[in-house]
Amino acid sequence: MKEGPVIYFRPAALEDCRKIFDWRNNPAARDNSLSSEPVSWQDHERWFKAKVFDPKTLFYVLLAENEKPVGQIRIDLDGSEGIISITVAPEARGRGYGDKGLKAVVDHIFQEKRLSRLVALVKEDNVSSQKIFSNNSFIPNGKRLVGGRSFLEFERLINIEQI
Ligand SMILES: CC(C)(COP(=O)(O)OP(=O)(O)OC[C@H]1O[C@@H](n2cnc3c(N)ncnc32)[C@H](O)[C@@H]1OP(=O)(O)O)[C@@H](O)C(=O)NCCC(=O)NCCS
Repeated sequence: MKEGPVIYFRPAALEDCRKIFDWRNNPAARDNSLSSEPVSWQDHERWFKAKVFDPKTLFYVLLAENEKPVGQIRIDLDGSEGIISITVAPEARGRGYGDKGLKAVVDHIFQEKRLSRLVALVKEDNVSSQKIFSNNSFIPNGKRLVGGRSFLEFERLINIEQI
């Protein structure tokens, strides 16, 4: 199996608000997210506070070996399903943090949270994102239109009885 960086994660907290704002507003992150418009600080702050305390959201910060935050993963829950999104800090991309961070969080939530299905929506030209989801056993499941833009759907299923 391919070696990668050591990575940890912890629940997101209010102190992460500014960092995650900067990561969210990076042009590549905006272009690849479900709504591509830039986000204002005020809107982000309101949104972030609600998400951090929302029981239907699992929100994690990815940490490198030296405990430096290098990205975030969020899962919006709907029953036993979740929609997953990931952003790696621009300066930390291409070093395996997305791939390994996704593995760590997905393993954790399938074990601890008893989800049966995770879905990721990825732009067709977002090759690195498609790679990290494929590397982590997500399989293509057609296309989905969101706000008039086309996304590839990737899903990972698990039989809750097998956990
Ligand atoms: C997508 C994202 C999370 C990936 O994280 P990352 O840490 O940069 O990714 P990794 O270094 O773990 O892995 C990237 C993979 O894509 C591959 N890759 C990167 N650019 C590529 C390109 N142009 N063509 C082909 N493969 C490419 C790498 O080789 C690697 O594949 P491998 O593991 O099979 O070698 C990160 O780039 C990001 O935050 N982008 C902006 C936000 C975003 O697009 N989020 C996803 C929304 S669904």
